[in-house]
Amino acid sequence: MFYISGTGKAIPSQIVTNNDLALYLDTNDEWITSRTGIKERRILKDHTENTVTLSAGAALEAMKNANLSAKDIDCVIVATASPIQPIPSTANLVAEMLGIHGPAFDINAACSGFVYGLSVAGGFFAQNMYENILLIGADSLSTYIDKHDRSTVILFGDGAGAVTLSATENPQAGLLGIDLSGDSSLAPILEVRNNNHPEIEENAESHLTMNGREVFKVAVRSVEKSIATTLDSANIKGQDVDWLLLHQANVRIIDAICERLDIDREKALTNIEKYGNTSAASIPILLAEVAEQNRFKDGDLLVFCGFGAGMTWGTCILRWFENK
Ligand code: ACO
Repeated sequence: MFYISGTGKAIPSQIVTNNDLALYLDTNDEWITSRTGIKERRILKDHTENTVTLSAGAALEAMKNANLSAKDIDCVIVATASPIQPIPSTANLVAEMLGIHGPAFDINAACSGFVYGLSVAGGFFAQNMYENILLIGADSLSTYIDKHDRSTVILFGDGAGAVTLSATENPQAGLLGIDLSGDSSLAPILEVRNNNHPEIEENAESHLTMNGREVFKVAVRSVEKSIATTLDSANIKGQDVDWLLLHQANVRIIDAICERLDIDREKALTNIEKYGNTSAASIPILLAEVAEQNRFKDGDLLVFCGFGAGMTWGTCILRWFENK
């Protein structure tokens, strides 16, 4: 069994508001707010901020909150789709920066990465492999965005969130339910192609492309099914959920999911207005913010659900405990 022993977050210092975007794009605050719920996002200021530095910042905060030092961490997992280099992994670079020794690796499941990482870590705990795992969700999708594409630049922000996961004898702790799903035939509706992609011209810049309407439809359908299936398999009713932590992509998606699953909208936590869609970082940043406000109580039932490029989606259910 394991529990979330610490949480942390790191966000870039540069704030870009809807009005900032409207200064050079044919868009406006009203359109962006009503279609997405986003008011502003954080964007990397310069090369001193990147996926590795944000990951390390979030990790340090989580470790401090858990009273863990580098020598206590047995494994580092980073969920990211925007590493600063392909080899070695972001997790290796973060481990080196923080003085952590042991296995370190990345997971790329786009915006579902944190939930996929949670289930992988849960598997390690089920095998009694580790005492403490550092799991980070971090992305800097602004590095892939065409700043003049009003359909994507309004949506995404950069950031990192981290949790330390620690072994416990508490029989109520650990994952109560998991669903990892996806449909790779939908890959073209949201993608970033590298320069070495066979269909990309030499030296062409690679930008994120997205069919927003299709992503929206798939997200609502798949998230609803994933959460319902996972609750069902764990014998938990929608009304018994204390907190819903959905990937922060669009507040309208979150509204639709609550309505379809008959979950009280107030239980669905949001901070999308401040950060936009931070991809793999969105759920752990939200978790860290709410934990910081001491809003979770011992035994609270938390449902995490991510969805993103691939398409990938997945749900994890666990109870919140303050202490071992
Ligand atoms: N400002 C003003 N007008 C705009 C903007 C803008 N920023 N962007 C698009 N428009 C226009 C379009 O050109 C279109 O005009 P037209 O009717 O004259 O053609 C009109 O607004 C409607 O555009 P739609 O794309 O149909 O708008 P929609 O209501 O679908 O909202 C949005 C678009 C916000 C992108 C929505 O589809 C969405 O949120 N989709 C999900 C996206 C998502 O979750 N992506 C992340 C997945 S996670 C990951 O892995 C990264």
